[in-house]
Amino acid sequence: LCVDIGGTGIKMLALDGRGRPVNERARMLTPNPATPAAVGKILRKMIEGQPRFDRVSVGFPGVVVNGVVHTAVNLGTKYWTQFDLQTELRKACKRPVRVINDADLQGYGVIDGRGVELVLTLGTGLGSALFLEGKLVPNLELGHHPLKKGKTYEERVCDAELKRLGKKEWSRRVEEAIETLEPIFNYDVLHLGGGNTQHIRVKLPKNVKIFTNVDGMMGGFRLWEHD
Ligand code: BGC
Repeated sequence: LCVDIGGTGIKMLALDGRGRPVNERARMLTPNPATPAAVGKILRKMIEGQPRFDRVSVGFPGVVVNGVVHTAVNLGTKYWTQFDLQTELRKACKRPVRVINDADLQGYGVIDGRGVELVLTLGTGLGSALFLEGKLVPNLELGHHPLKKGKTYEERVCDAELKRLGKKEWSRRVEEAIETLEPIFNYDVLHLGGGNTQHIRVKLPKNVKIFTNVDGMMGGFRLWEHD
Protein backbone atom coordinates (compact mmCIF):
# COMPACT_ATOMS: atom_id res chain seq x y z
CA LEU A 1 0.00 0.00 0.00
CA CYS A 2 1.52 3.30 -1.04
CA VAL A 3 0.55 6.42 0.89
CA ASP A 4 1.45 9.99 -0.02
CA ILE A 5 0.88 12.53 2.72
CA GLY A 6 0.80 15.97 1.12
CA GLY A 7 0.24 19.49 2.38
CA THR A 8 -3.14 19.59 0.61
CA GLY A 9 -4.20 15.98 0.05
CA ILE A 10 -3.53 12.49 1.37
CA LYS A 11 -3.34 9.90 -1.39
CA MET A 12 -3.38 6.12 -1.32
CA LEU A 13 -2.91 3.42 -3.91
CA ALA A 14 -2.54 -0.35 -3.65
CA LEU A 15 0.05 -1.99 -5.91
CA ASP A 16 0.33 -5.64 -6.82
CA GLY A 17 3.43 -7.85 -6.49
CA ARG A 18 4.81 -6.35 -9.70
CA GLY A 19 4.13 -2.75 -8.75
CA ARG A 20 1.02 -2.28 -10.88
CA PRO A 21 -1.89 -0.32 -9.39
CA VAL A 22 -4.76 -2.59 -8.36
CA ASN A 23 -7.25 0.17 -7.60
CA GLU A 24 -8.05 3.82 -8.31
CA ARG A 25 -5.97 6.26 -6.33
CA ALA A 26 -7.94 7.47 -3.30
CA ARG A 27 -7.58 11.06 -2.09
CA MET A 28 -8.82 12.99 0.92
CA LEU A 29 -8.01 16.50 2.05
CA THR A 30 -5.22 16.92 4.57
CA PRO A 31 -6.81 18.07 7.85
CA ASN A 32 -6.14 21.54 9.18
CA PRO A 33 -4.43 21.68 11.60
CA ALA A 34 -2.54 18.66 10.34
CA THR A 35 -1.61 17.21 13.73
CA PRO A 36 -0.42 13.59 13.95
CA ALA A 37 -3.77 12.67 15.55
CA ALA A 38 -5.84 14.33 12.81
CA VAL A 39 -3.71 12.86 10.00
CA GLY A 40 -3.81 9.45 11.72
CA LYS A 41 -7.60 9.56 11.80
CA ILE A 42 -7.81 10.22 8.03
CA LEU A 43 -5.24 7.49 7.33
CA ARG A 44 -7.23 4.92 9.31
CA LYS A 45 -10.44 5.90 7.52
CA MET A 46 -8.81 5.64 4.08
CA ILE A 47 -7.09 2.34 4.86
CA GLU A 48 -10.47 0.77 5.63
CA GLY A 49 -11.41 1.27 1.97
CA GLN A 50 -8.25 -0.40 0.62
CA PRO A 51 -7.84 -4.00 -0.53
CA ARG A 52 -5.76 -6.38 1.58
CA PHE A 53 -2.09 -5.39 1.69
CA ASP A 54 1.16 -6.87 3.02
CA ARG A 55 3.31 -3.81 3.64
CA VAL A 56 3.04 -0.05 3.62
CA SER A 57 5.22 2.70 2.11
CA VAL A 58 4.62 6.27 3.16
CA GLY A 59 5.92 9.49 1.61
CA PHE A 60 5.93 12.28 4.19
CA PRO A 61 6.37 16.00 3.38
CA GLY A 62 9.38 16.66 5.58
CA VAL A 63 12.74 15.34 6.73
CA VAL A 64 12.38 11.74 7.91
CA VAL A 65 15.26 9.74 9.44
CA ASN A 66 14.71 6.06 10.27
CA GLY A 67 10.97 6.59 10.11
CA VAL A 68 11.07 9.45 12.61
CA VAL A 69 9.88 12.89 11.46
CA HIS A 70 12.26 15.81 11.96
CA THR A 71 10.51 18.61 10.06
CA ALA A 72 7.15 19.19 8.41
CA VAL A 73 7.12 22.76 7.13
CA ASN A 74 3.75 22.54 5.38
CA LEU A 75 1.98 20.46 8.04
CA GLY A 76 3.44 22.15 11.11
CA THR A 77 6.90 21.18 12.34
CA LYS A 78 5.83 21.91 15.93
CA TYR A 79 3.36 19.01 15.87
CA TRP A 80 5.63 16.53 14.17
CA THR A 81 9.20 16.92 15.45
CA GLN A 82 10.50 13.57 16.69
CA PHE A 83 7.21 11.84 15.89
CA ASP A 84 7.93 8.20 15.13
CA LEU A 85 5.40 7.85 12.34
CA GLN A 86 6.82 4.56 11.13
CA THR A 87 6.40 2.83 14.49
CA GLU A 88 2.92 4.30 15.02
CA LEU A 89 1.73 3.09 11.63
CA ARG A 90 3.31 -0.32 12.07
CA LYS A 91 1.37 -0.75 15.30
CA ALA A 92 -1.84 0.49 13.68
CA CYS A 93 -1.56 -1.63 10.50
CA LYS A 94 0.19 -4.65 12.01
CA ARG A 95 2.29 -4.80 8.83
CA PRO A 96 5.84 -3.72 7.95
CA VAL A 97 5.88 0.03 7.28
CA ARG A 98 8.51 2.35 5.78
CA VAL A 99 8.23 6.11 5.98
CA ILE A 100 10.55 8.37 3.99
CA ASN A 101 10.45 11.89 2.55
CA ASP A 102 7.74 12.30 -0.11
CA ALA A 103 10.05 13.47 -2.92
CA ASP A 104 12.49 10.65 -2.10
CA LEU A 105 9.67 8.13 -2.38
CA GLN A 106 8.38 9.54 -5.66
CA GLY A 107 11.92 9.60 -6.99
CA TYR A 108 12.25 5.86 -6.45
CA GLY A 109 9.19 5.50 -8.65
CA VAL A 110 10.56 7.41 -11.63
CA ILE A 111 14.35 7.31 -11.78
CA ASP A 112 16.17 5.43 -14.52
CA GLY A 113 18.96 4.39 -12.13
CA ARG A 114 21.73 5.86 -14.28
CA GLY A 115 24.02 8.80 -13.56
CA VAL A 116 22.91 11.83 -11.59
CA GLU A 117 19.15 12.28 -11.38
CA LEU A 118 17.46 15.18 -9.66
CA VAL A 119 13.77 14.99 -8.77
CA LEU A 120 11.62 18.03 -8.05
CA THR A 121 7.96 17.96 -7.05
CA LEU A 122 5.74 20.99 -7.47
CA GLY A 123 2.88 20.83 -5.00
CA THR A 124 1.93 22.69 -1.85
CA GLY A 125 5.68 23.03 -1.33
CA LEU A 126 8.73 22.09 -3.39
CA GLY A 127 10.08 18.58 -2.88
CA SER A 128 13.54 17.53 -4.02
CA ALA A 129 15.48 14.28 -4.24
CA LEU A 130 18.90 13.38 -5.58
CA PHE A 131 20.01 9.98 -6.89
CA LEU A 132 23.39 8.74 -8.07
CA GLU A 133 23.32 5.51 -10.09
CA GLY A 134 19.93 4.78 -8.51
CA LYS A 135 21.15 5.36 -4.97
CA LEU A 136 19.37 8.02 -2.95
CA VAL A 137 21.01 10.92 -1.12
CA PRO A 138 18.21 11.19 1.48
CA ASN A 139 16.44 14.33 2.63
CA LEU A 140 17.78 16.88 0.19
CA GLU A 141 15.86 20.03 1.16
CA LEU A 142 16.52 22.29 -1.82
CA GLY A 143 13.15 23.95 -1.37
CA HIS A 144 14.38 25.86 1.66
CA HIS A 145 17.50 27.23 0.00
CA PRO A 146 17.37 30.95 -0.88
CA LEU A 147 16.86 31.58 -4.60
CA LYS A 148 16.04 35.24 -5.22
CA LYS A 149 14.88 38.42 -3.48
CA GLY A 150 15.27 36.84 -0.06
CA LYS A 151 12.84 34.06 -1.01
CA THR A 152 13.56 30.36 -1.09
CA TYR A 153 12.90 28.07 -4.05
CA GLU A 154 9.79 26.83 -2.26
CA GLU A 155 8.54 30.34 -1.53
CA ARG A 156 8.92 31.23 -5.24
CA VAL A 157 7.25 28.21 -6.83
CA CYS A 158 4.84 26.93 -4.16
CA ASP A 159 1.14 26.42 -4.78
CA ALA A 160 0.23 29.68 -3.04
CA GLU A 161 2.40 31.58 -5.54
CA LEU A 162 0.86 29.73 -8.50
CA LYS A 163 -2.56 30.89 -7.28
CA ARG A 164 -1.34 34.43 -6.69
CA LEU A 165 0.60 34.93 -9.94
CA GLY A 166 -1.24 32.76 -12.44
CA LYS A 167 0.21 30.02 -14.63
CA LYS A 168 2.30 32.14 -16.97
CA GLU A 169 4.28 34.08 -14.41
CA TRP A 170 4.60 31.08 -12.10
CA SER A 171 5.89 28.97 -15.01
CA ARG A 172 8.64 31.54 -15.59
CA ARG A 173 9.65 31.09 -11.98
CA VAL A 174 9.82 27.33 -12.42
CA GLU A 175 11.97 27.88 -15.49
CA GLU A 176 14.23 30.20 -13.51
CA ALA A 177 14.58 27.63 -10.71
CA ILE A 178 15.56 24.97 -13.25
CA GLU A 179 18.04 27.31 -14.95
CA THR A 180 19.65 27.96 -11.57
CA LEU A 181 19.86 24.31 -10.55
CA GLU A 182 21.07 22.82 -13.82
CA PRO A 183 24.62 24.27 -13.73
CA ILE A 184 24.95 23.38 -10.03
CA PHE A 185 23.87 19.74 -10.04
CA ASN A 186 24.79 18.96 -13.66
CA TYR A 187 22.27 16.13 -13.61
CA ASP A 188 21.68 13.78 -16.49
CA VAL A 189 17.93 14.01 -16.00
CA LEU A 190 15.65 16.23 -13.99
CA HIS A 191 12.39 14.43 -13.17
CA LEU A 192 9.64 16.95 -12.56
CA GLY A 193 6.45 15.87 -10.84
CA GLY A 194 3.81 16.96 -8.35
CA GLY A 195 0.25 18.03 -9.05
CA ASN A 196 1.19 21.51 -10.29
CA THR A 197 3.44 20.30 -13.11
CA GLN A 198 0.33 20.28 -15.31
CA HIS A 199 0.18 24.09 -15.05
CA ILE A 200 3.60 24.69 -16.60
CA ARG A 201 3.27 26.91 -19.67
CA VAL A 202 6.90 27.16 -20.80
CA LYS A 203 8.93 24.80 -22.95
CA LEU A 204 11.28 22.84 -20.74
CA PRO A 205 14.82 21.69 -21.63
CA LYS A 206 15.28 18.24 -23.21
CA ASN A 207 16.76 16.70 -20.07
CA VAL A 208 13.60 17.42 -18.05
CA LYS A 209 11.10 14.56 -17.81
CA ILE A 210 7.60 15.11 -16.46
CA PHE A 211 5.98 12.46 -14.27
CA THR A 212 2.52 12.09 -12.74
CA ASN A 213 1.65 11.51 -9.08
CA VAL A 214 0.61 7.95 -9.88
CA ASP A 215 4.02 7.32 -11.55
CA GLY A 216 5.63 8.62 -8.36
CA MET A 217 3.61 6.27 -6.19
CA MET A 218 5.40 3.36 -7.87
CA GLY A 219 8.18 4.40 -5.54
CA GLY A 220 6.19 2.75 -2.77
CA PHE A 221 6.90 -0.55 -4.49
CA ARG A 222 10.51 0.09 -5.48
CA LEU A 223 11.42 1.39 -2.03
CA TRP A 224 11.55 -2.18 -0.77
CA GLU A 225 14.07 -3.15 -3.44
CA HIS A 226 16.48 -0.42 -2.31
CA ASP A 227 17.54 -1.37 1.15
C1 BGC B 1 9.53 19.95 2.81
C2 BGC B 1 10.09 18.79 2.05
C3 BGC B 1 9.02 18.18 1.16
C4 BGC B 1 8.39 19.25 0.27
C5 BGC B 1 7.26 18.70 -0.57
C6 BGC B 1 8.94 20.94 1.83
O1 BGC B 1 8.42 22.04 2.52
O2 BGC B 1 10.51 20.58 3.60
O3 BGC B 1 10.59 17.83 2.93
O4 BGC B 1 9.57 17.16 0.38
O5 BGC B 1 7.91 20.30 1.06
O6 BGC B 1 6.24 18.16 0.19
